[in-house]
Amino acid sequence: MGREYRVGIVGATGAVGQTMLEIVERRQFPVKSLKLLASSRSVGRKFRFRGEEIAVQELSTENDVLDDLDLILSSAGGKISKWFAPVAAEKGCVVVDNTSAFRMVPDVPLVVPEVNPHALDHHKGIIANPNCSTIQMVHALKPIYDAVGIKRIVVSTYQAASGAGGRAIAELEEQARAWAAGRELPRSIFPKQILFNVIPQIGQSSPFQENGYTDEEMKMVNETRKILEDDSIRVSATTVRVPVFYGHSEAVNVETKKKITAAEAKALLQEFPGIIVVDDLEGQDRRYPVALDAAGVDETFVGRIREDISTENGLVLWIVADNIRKGAALNAVQIAEIMAKKNLIPGAGGKHPGNA
Ligand code: A2P
Repeated sequence: MGREYRVGIVGATGAVGQTMLEIVERRQFPVKSLKLLASSRSVGRKFRFRGEEIAVQELSTENDVLDDLDLILSSAGGKISKWFAPVAAEKGCVVVDNTSAFRMVPDVPLVVPEVNPHALDHHKGIIANPNCSTIQMVHALKPIYDAVGIKRIVVSTYQAASGAGGRAIAELEEQARAWAAGRELPRSIFPKQILFNVIPQIGQSSPFQENGYTDEEMKMVNETRKILEDDSIRVSATTVRVPVFYGHSEAVNVETKKKITAAEAKALLQEFPGIIVVDDLEGQDRRYPVALDAAGVDETFVGRIREDISTENGLVLWIVADNIRKGAALNAVQIAEIMAKKNLIPGAGGKHPGNA
């Protein structure tokens, strides 16, 4: 039998943490033992894993709760990761972190498994899972980048409420119930009413930078360059919240270095791992992907593939994926799977390859 790992999930009670738990079980990641970690508020809550109830423990760096873990999948917010992840990594644990805390740190790998798995090889204990909107975009653009190069990307996103966490999902639902009952709509997470609205601001507290872009938009710029290992790519993003529970959609306009036809791009995408092309506009049943198709599904969907009529080497794509799955939990588990396969998880007390 292959090696099994002592695994922890930090933020186990959250929208992403719960999906990590489900995906680790479904994909049969080799788990020897599992710890569920969250805040003191959740201590005593129990969740099922492989038919057994596991009680949530409080995340702490003051006791031994992090001592005997080989791998942590974490999604409890950037501040929490900055606090505990270096401590866990120091103990020999690998932390696959879903927050933005370490993404742009130069020697921290920022990985989409179908795109740049080699970046994991010299890790120092912390691996960053990219921003959800970036993951699905670079996933679909990778075969095009490899074939003809990419000069410039202009993207608009249509992002689901779940990207802002469990409380944001509840806010959309509560607003819908309140509206149906004729009550005043409750609001605490989103900067404006999300029900029946479209909000061109992702991130709650002061997300706008001096250049007028939001942090979320600049994540798409910087992370795309880091993952594709190409600082020459120009990216401009407008990230928008829409009243959808699960599934981010993106309208992506790409300027390529060499000409590629829509048919060629479609053929490349059809062959690429983890991508499903849904693009058939003929006949009654016009087919293109929508958020409801992607919700609860692992793959990234691409449709509306066409050549840009306004420029010479331009391509337009519609990319849809479940932001909690490929955009977060699934991508993190896929990273862990590759690391296990390549023997890149040293185990508690061991040395990370980048420190050896
Ligand atoms: P808790 O439920 O105990 O607050 P979401 O992104 O869906 O909002 O989830 C956030 C996750 O981060 C939850 O699991 C939450 O746990 C966890 N979390 C928040 N604050 C802390 C903390 N101080 N220590 C550990 N986990 C935390």
